Amino acid sequence: MAILVTGSGGLIGSATCKLFLSKGQNVIGIDNNMRKAFFGKKGDVGSTITSLKEHARYTHHYIDIREKEQMEKVVTNTIDLIVHTAGQPSHDYSALHPEEDFSINALATFQLLELCRKRCPHAVFIFTSTNKVYGDRVNSAALEEQEKRFDFCKDQKIEGITMCGVNEHLSIDQSQHSLFGASKLSADIMVQEYGKYFGMKTGVFRLGCITGPAHAGVSLHGFLAYLISCAKKNAPYIIYGHKGKQVRDQLLADDVALAADAFYQSPRSGEVYNIGGGRENAGSILEIIDILEGMGIRMDISFGPERKADHICYYTDSSKLIRHYPSWKPSHSLREIISLLVGQ
Ligand SMILES: NC(=O)c1ccc[n+]([C@@H]2O[C@H](COP(=O)([O-])OP(=O)(O)OC[C@H]3O[C@@H](n4cnc5c(N)ncnc54)[C@H](O)[C@@H]3O)[C@@H](O)[C@H]2O)c1
Repeated sequence: MAILVTGSGGLIGSATCKLFLSKGQNVIGIDNNMRKAFFGKKGDVGSTITSLKEHARYTHHYIDIREKEQMEKVVTNTIDLIVHTAGQPSHDYSALHPEEDFSINALATFQLLELCRKRCPHAVFIFTSTNKVYGDRVNSAALEEQEKRFDFCKDQKIEGITMCGVNEHLSIDQSQHSLFGASKLSADIMVQEYGKYFGMKTGVFRLGCITGPAHAGVSLHGFLAYLISCAKKNAPYIIYGHKGKQVRDQLLADDVALAADAFYQSPRSGEVYNIGGGRENAGSILEIIDILEGMGIRMDISFGPERKADHICYYTDSSKLIRHYPSWKPSHSLREIISLLVGQ
């Protein structure tokens, strides 16, 4: 049997491939290095694919996931797990290229679900969705402005947001998502439906900010990796809106791979999990810049306009995942993640 990973050259896909290869599994990867087409040379994942290909149990296909006929040749009844991470990941890119974004994020996911249902209905199917499916409803939370960050207030009137973060009860309706958020949400609902309606073993992982040393961070996607790459080169960094007090939680891609393994070992049908570093791993841009300065790295920052539907404060409540899979927890603190990325 084999594990199929789409987007295998990317941050989460490559971490997933490495985990399952280390467990002695056969891994089939699909990635056409579209990230380079989206973001230019800095988004190039070619070297990650090359290093995966050195592994004897890894097979690579440079296929566009939208190409039905090519995908049919790869998705066979020998597949036991599909981890679908290939996607267009940027809000800004999706606004410039809505059709391309929808065809990759929504349509290709639907096609892959159908292939899975027809060819390997026994397989576990995991989709890496995003917290952007909650849209800017997150910004209706009561926030407290502190010196260096925004934080959720203790008393919230919105279901799904507490001091522990955002959980899966937050509504996905009646808010602005960005086109990227909407295309991911279309796929997210479809993956749930194939679990609920057809009884397939599908899981939706709604991810917060995921990072790691292998992250090809660019200005439009991969905020922490990009910020640190600017810091290391002493290159200018633009903070978009919210005075730099916007908060995100950070989690390593390796921990997403471990969550995928946990779900694979004990799958459920049509489940949704918010997965992230959580309150303890949350920091604002200003706070992260302070941590970097504490490490002797100074930053050249300036301020730009806020991005549409961008979250002011978001950190993940992963307690549902931990309830279902008690062995899972974030492996690294925010400071440890920053040190890893800085290379100290
Ligand atoms: N990294 C994060 O912080 C984060 C947060 C929330 C959600 N996600 C979601 O998780 C998924 C994986 O994230 P990531 O950070 O690993 O992204 P990534 O960009 O590093 O990896 C995605 C990979 O998919 C490949 N790809 C894109 N379109 C393709 C296509 N049409 N055919 C074949 N390959 C294609 C790219 O070349 C890239 O290597 C994405 O769909 C993203 O929306 C990521």
